[in-house]
Amino acid sequence: MNRFATLAATLALSTLLLGQEVSGRWRLQQHVDDGNTLETFLDLAQQGTSVTGKLLVGWGELPIIDGRMEGGRISFGVPMDPGYILRYSGEVSATQMRLTLIDSKAGSFPVSGIRMAADESIAPPRLPLPELHEVRDNGLVRTPPMGWNSWNFFQGKIDDATIRQIADALVGSGMRDAGYMYVNIDDTWAGTRDASGHIHANKKFPDMKALADYVHSKGLKLGIYSSPGPRTCAGYEGSYGHEEQDAKTFAEWGIDYLKYDWCSALRIYKDEEMRAVYQKMGDALLHSGRPIVYSLCQYGKDQVWTWGKLAGGNLWRTTDDISDNASSMFANAEAQADIATWAEPGHWNDPDMLEVGNGRMSPDEYRSHMTFWAVLAAPLIAGNDVRNMTEETRGILMNPEVIAVDQDPLGKQGTRSWKRGDVEIWVRPLSGDAKAIAVFNLGADDASVNVGWKDLGISGVASVRDLWNHHDLPAGNAVYSVTLKPRGSSLIKLQVQH
Ligand code: GLA
Repeated sequence: MNRFATLAATLALSTLLLGQEVSGRWRLQQHVDDGNTLETFLDLAQQGTSVTGKLLVGWGELPIIDGRMEGGRISFGVPMDPGYILRYSGEVSATQMRLTLIDSKAGSFPVSGIRMAADESIAPPRLPLPELHEVRDNGLVRTPPMGWNSWNFFQGKIDDATIRQIADALVGSGMRDAGYMYVNIDDTWAGTRDASGHIHANKKFPDMKALADYVHSKGLKLGIYSSPGPRTCAGYEGSYGHEEQDAKTFAEWGIDYLKYDWCSALRIYKDEEMRAVYQKMGDALLHSGRPIVYSLCQYGKDQVWTWGKLAGGNLWRTTDDISDNASSMFANAEAQADIATWAEPGHWNDPDMLEVGNGRMSPDEYRSHMTFWAVLAAPLIAGNDVRNMTEETRGILMNPEVIAVDQDPLGKQGTRSWKRGDVEIWVRPLSGDAKAIAVFNLGADDASVNVGWKDLGISGVASVRDLWNHHDLPAGNAVYSVTLKPRGSSLIKLQVQH
């Protein structure tokens, strides 16, 4: 045996003893109940028995932790949220992996992996973008859209039957009549494309047109979700390269609203190219033959409020995803402070969907959530299980006087006009010489507030009404006094003399 052969034999033996070298890129596939195969990618680097790297999912990259490779077996974790870690483990050969994914929230699932060639790409080739132009206004949502969306409560656990029940509940609870019109299916409805590129829903939605007919028969409208990337954030088929075709399909199904989520488009385009990418679908929707509300979801990147309308958007997310806690909710609201001037009838800043009724905030916090969204002229898209609502949740979501502030036809977004410690006052100009005044206590203790109208630059107050409690307050007082619970709020309406 020559020296090279000896070296090769030693390497082969050490690979056998230490286990397979796992460094490199892997394509992982997971078959899910709805008939889809979800793809993610693993970038791994092995040193001895330690493995580091990242998992590439539909919306970005997640670092792996606790990675080990021993005797042909790999194990690693992927932290999702604090205290929530996906655990993968299984066998690895030179080119294949057979893993078990343990997801403490969803169960345990087989995942298979195939080693990718070094020059293999995880994204399809880049398609050219259109020249920028101003997309014509579609004339929709002159007041902020109101409705419901499946993501915050159901995530992937939605199907045709659930959406029908939600539609029934929106009618039965009075929410439709309070203004909540759009029933929006979020991520995980998509199936695959046929030979002509036509998108089909997956098993959970056997007949999208029939579902739209049902929702319309209840006096409601149906919304759907897609991505400008090849895959949605949950890993389902996106509209990349099929924008016109999908817009036409959505119109044929009877869809009235599209939420278009950046997700895997980040593997193809830069943030600065977002306007052109969104314009493509904006044009496609205009030419689809059906009025479709266009909701941009790219987490507020590239100052979307400055160009969302030009790309044909009716509303645009301005922040990362909301979660069901007060700090997330207040952070999303506060992020609107400097961008109010970009909101106008037909074009709205969107601090994300409501969490009211999902259980992890106090009633005062949920009331503040609704107060904030109303004063911000934010879309009111409920995100709870409207089939099972407490009286308290109904009262918060359906207070007509609070909704009337949100839906004020002047379409001006409120701004922060006063702040002392944890107390903030936001003022929204309303039609007919009126103003909505929202007072927030962001702190953890009760707060007593005494504020003069003149501190807010307001004079000539003719009437004052407490909108949550439905009663008039004395108009003659020059000062408004209120005691607020931790993270509580009040909302009043002033009529100003002209
Ligand atoms: C992103 C969006 C969410 C939701 C999920 C679905 O995170 O911001 O609102 O649509 O994707 O995967």
